[in-house]
Amino acid sequence: MIYVNNLSKTFGDFVAVNDLSFNIQPGDVVGFLGPNGAGKSTTMKMLTGFLAPTGGEIQIADLSIVDDAKKIKQMIGYLPEGAPAYGDMTPLQFLEFIAKVRGLKGQHKDERISTVVKQIELQSVLDKPIENLSKGFKRRVGLAQAILHDPQILILDEPTDGLDPNQKHQVRELIQNLSKDKIVVISTHILEEVTAVCNRVMIISAGQLMFDDTPKALLRKSKYHNAVTLHLSYPSDTSGFLELDNVIDIEDDLPNSKVTLITRNGADVLHSVTEHIKERRLPVDTMFVEQGRLDQVFRELTQGEQA
Ligand SMILES: Nc1ncnc2c1ncn2[C@@H]1O[C@H](COP(=O)(O)OP(=O)(O)OP(=O)(O)O)[C@@H](O)[C@H]1O
Ligand SMILES: [Mg+2]
Repeated sequence: MIYVNNLSKTFGDFVAVNDLSFNIQPGDVVGFLGPNGAGKSTTMKMLTGFLAPTGGEIQIADLSIVDDAKKIKQMIGYLPEGAPAYGDMTPLQFLEFIAKVRGLKGQHKDERISTVVKQIELQSVLDKPIENLSKGFKRRVGLAQAILHDPQILILDEPTDGLDPNQKHQVRELIQNLSKDKIVVISTHILEEVTAVCNRVMIISAGQLMFDDTPKALLRKSKYHNAVTLHLSYPSDTSGFLELDNVIDIEDDLPNSKVTLITRNGADVLHSVTEHIKERRLPVDTMFVEQGRLDQVFRELTQGEQA
């Protein structure tokens, strides 16, 4: 439904988005990750028709963003970074205004406003000027306007930035409930958010696409995928683990009596590790198999760090 082909954006000599190509289908909840300045917001601005590409093409539902920007904007709900709104309006006035712009009328309009106010829990601030609201509530007002017309496509630039833990949870649930037949693209710096709500991860760095697959596939790329971490009751000689097949390295955190066994290509070593612990009578209190570490894979993909 969204086709992006060789998309690029330059500001003067600076290349912010460099030859991106991808397709997004209904049901995809895409987590858009990348370091500061990677080009996430710029890409989202182009997808939503707020910024013209320098090169390449964007087609949404077989419409071109160049020729049919208005029709495309009707299909999209967009939360821009920083969630701009009119500060002297109250959230209720702002939502009434957005409803008008979106062409919602009568009972349907009232129902949508009341549903969204409940979903985003805006009841307590409905009549306060937006400029006097806390950062998190401003963000929530931005989110409310993005979903007000119940769009097919949601593009949310850091939707949980600045929200308290309860609201983060709420917004993640909201995204999960929305996503059945919709397209959702969210950018975030919270890596765990991607495993919590997305079924696809795209990582960009310096404007280029470095990774595009499922969150599970991202975890599998981590050198800690299937690594076994052990907590010991007291410091012990753990070098014997290196004799086991497929254990290629031991990382230790001895002050905390903790060791992590890294395996070859994520091989499953749990059985041989358990046998080894029994044979050597090692004082192991707890032991778990890691899925992978997102922060480490992220660094590797975006800074070229060695595994
Ligand atoms: N209007 C502009 N004029 C010049 N440079 C710009 C403009 N907009 C963005 N850039 C540059 O393009 C690059 C990408 O910016 P962008 O905002 O897309 O990054 P981002 O991935 O969203 O980062 P963050 O995680 O900090 O939000 C940055 O280096 C930024 O300074
Ligand atoms: Mg940004």
